[in-house]
Amino acid sequence: MTVVVAATAAFIVTIDGPAGTGKSTVAHRLAKRLGLEFLDTGAMYRAAALTALERGIDPADGPRVAELVRDLELRFDWMTDPPALLVDGHAVGDRIRTQEVTRAVSAVASNPLVREAMVEAQREIASLHPRLVTEGRDQGSVVFPDAHVRIYLDARPEIRARRRVEQLAAKGIVTTEGEILAQILERDRLDSTRRDGPLVCPRGADVVDTSNIEIDDVIDRLEQVVRARATPARIAGDDDSAADS
Ligand code: DC
Repeated sequence: MTVVVAATAAFIVTIDGPAGTGKSTVAHRLAKRLGLEFLDTGAMYRAAALTALERGIDPADGPRVAELVRDLELRFDWMTDPPALLVDGHAVGDRIRTQEVTRAVSAVASNPLVREAMVEAQREIASLHPRLVTEGRDQGSVVFPDAHVRIYLDARPEIRARRRVEQLAAKGIVTTEGEILAQILERDRLDSTRRDGPLVCPRGADVVDTSNIEIDDVIDRLEQVVRARATPARIAGDDDSAADS
């Protein structure tokens, strides 16, 4: 008897865009809706910044941070929801979301050697988990330029600042919109002017502006974008004919 095992076709959706567009929440919920896994690449950069700070390494010391990243084992526990990031086997949890890490992470992310190591780590993760919604700043432009669906989420800076203030307030952290807006504009500047993997709209991406759309409607919009770009079989992972295209 011959047993034919159908290969699970890879299916990658990339979501890029600036801070404060709700990318992580949106990517996580879209992945669930489509039956895909969710890769939070910002968490990986944050984990590098956190570990550098914990080990007394200057986040701006490119070569040392790059060496650190190459030595670290960055993995996700895909059994938890959302997948928990493990650094050398230990869950980092909310320690990567502090203001201190947020301040340090731009310097880490602007280092070309660090980016090179991260791109490699992300492609390796995708080779083991090929049915993914992945979000970040360079996923559709650099890491997975041939992804089946590439989405660029955007929103006006003032709106992004307001959302961030609300998120922080929910955690009991009091800030002002002016302070957060200044941080966001500075982060945009650093993200979009760095030489390596700058924040750009990927070639052929679908652009969705979330300024005036509620989160539930954003998810609906993105689902429509994905369904317009890919067949149901491709999305379900059982489209053999599409396995290597
Ligand atoms: O999305 P976030 O705020 O968790 O990202 C943290 C930092 O990492 C932010 O400065 C942007 C950077 N980043 C990046 O440069 N490339 C990615 N693919 C993901 C995040």
